[in-house]
Amino acid sequence: MENIENNIIFTRRSIRSFIKEKKVESEKIELIIKAAMQAPSSCNKQPWEFLVLDDKDVINSIAPLDRHFSLVAKAPLVIIAMGNEKTSYKGENGALWYPLDVSAATQNILLQAAKLGLGGVWIGSYPDEVRIKGLQKHFNIPEHIIPFTVIAIGYSEESNKFVNRYDSTKVHYNKY
Ligand SMILES: Cc1cc2nc3c(=O)[nH]c(=O)nc-3n(C[C@H](O)[C@H](O)[C@H](O)COP(=O)(O)O)c2cc1C
Repeated sequence: MENIENNIIFTRRSIRSFIKEKKVESEKIELIIKAAMQAPSSCNKQPWEFLVLDDKDVINSIAPLDRHFSLVAKAPLVIIAMGNEKTSYKGENGALWYPLDVSAATQNILLQAAKLGLGGVWIGSYPDEVRIKGLQKHFNIPEHIIPFTVIAIGYSEESNKFVNRYDSTKVHYNKY
């Protein structure tokens, strides 16, 4: 059996403090975005876009939009993962499925960042209408593009480490 303490899925943690002056290298940013685009998506629609913020002033400019965004001001890199309502898979009952696709992409971003020795944290935008509209207005994003997650990334003194969350009571074999 694999040692789970060497497996990034198990060791990834939300990291909320960053060495702000230490920039994330552009090759690492590119790999993180490529990892995002490798995510599974409903009907393989890949209805995502990414707004990459690596400029200190631009990063700082989003902090006042919502109190939950204050955390981003500490990070040298912020990726806003967005869902496109027009290219999203629309199920036969009318539901848009992009929230699941962009969630999968967001998890890939966090895992790839951790694998590269970086820390990251998922800050919610969707489904909070105030945060979504605030980001759309701030960046002049069209209405059908939904700023879905705000991900703060950077080098950190905190480290990713294993926390055991396995709970056998949540697992059901063959019957509920
Ligand atoms: C949808 C979603 C929204 C989140 N929003 C925030 C947030 O606004 N601020 C924050 O510090 N962490 C946020 N988190 C991170 C969670 O607090 C974190 O994943 C959880 O406490 C488990 O810790 P871990 O990521 O270290 O395993 C969010 C996570 C998810 C999945």
